[in-house]
Amino acid sequence: MKMSPNKYFIIILAILFSSCQHDIIYNVFTFSKDTVYVVTPPVVTNPNTGTTPAVTSDTVCFNTEILPLYVSYCGSAGCHDAATHSSGVMTTDYGHIMVGIRAKNAANSKYYTIIGNGMPPRNSPQLTAAHIASIKKWIDQGALNTNCTKVCDTTVFTYAGAIQTILSTNCGGCHGAKPGSANIYLGDYASTKAYVSANKSIFLNAINYVTTIAASKRMPPSGKMVDCKILQIQKWINNGYPQ
Ligand code: HEC
Repeated sequence: MKMSPNKYFIIILAILFSSCQHDIIYNVFTFSKDTVYVVTPPVVTNPNTGTTPAVTSDTVCFNTEILPLYVSYCGSAGCHDAATHSSGVMTTDYGHIMVGIRAKNAANSKYYTIIGNGMPPRNSPQLTAAHIASIKKWIDQGALNTNCTKVCDTTVFTYAGAIQTILSTNCGGCHGAKPGSANIYLGDYASTKAYVSANKSIFLNAINYVTTIAASKRMPPSGKMVDCKILQIQKWINNGYPQ
């Protein structure tokens, strides 16, 4: 039986994808603290055209804006994480998220349309309108595996200007509704300031992925945030938690 070129293409993609997965695990555990963290290998090839699109300032970064939302709000333990993958759905990496996404077709992207329509479950933290809008924009732009490292302005480090968004994107699904995972609630200014000021080194060790703490206590669990976001949080703390 003769295989269509399409089938070959899918097989090649499958091989590429399995090697990427391997790299993700490798990167998470071997990058040193000072390395700019890269969530996935910088493969931003558009599968339809084979070209690598330029990342413009308007491009939604999959690694810093979209992946953390799916991991935090859908992929926590017991839900759509690798160990549980409830209903066969796993939202912890690009390949698995794309199972429910159709590029440039948000209306037919199940992992988009279900948000707010049953998922996340009613008593779990919900994605905000801004989160949903950035997922839509990412799909409209082609749902690419865009990987950005220089993604923030470290001269901005107020709660309203930067910290709130970083925490709601990367931590909100687990610490965004009371009581929060491990009884840590980071859903508003006063609670976050109170928790962080009382637990500064625990908090900083967790987000810096220090190797002296258990792997389960490194936050967010899906992988270290890009360095510039960690720096914004550090500046916020060092400058007395500006609102
Ligand atoms: C997918 C769910 C999830 C996400 C996302 C998440 N956390 Fe956690 N967090 C947990 C769980 C579960 C624990 C308890 C871990 C343990 O005790 O082993 C925890 C514990 C912590 C702790 C205490 C660590 C310690 O040493 O006791 C801090 C601080 C923390 N998280 C901060 C954050 C911050 C900041 C973010 C975002 C940048 C974040 N978490 C994102 C689930 C999550």
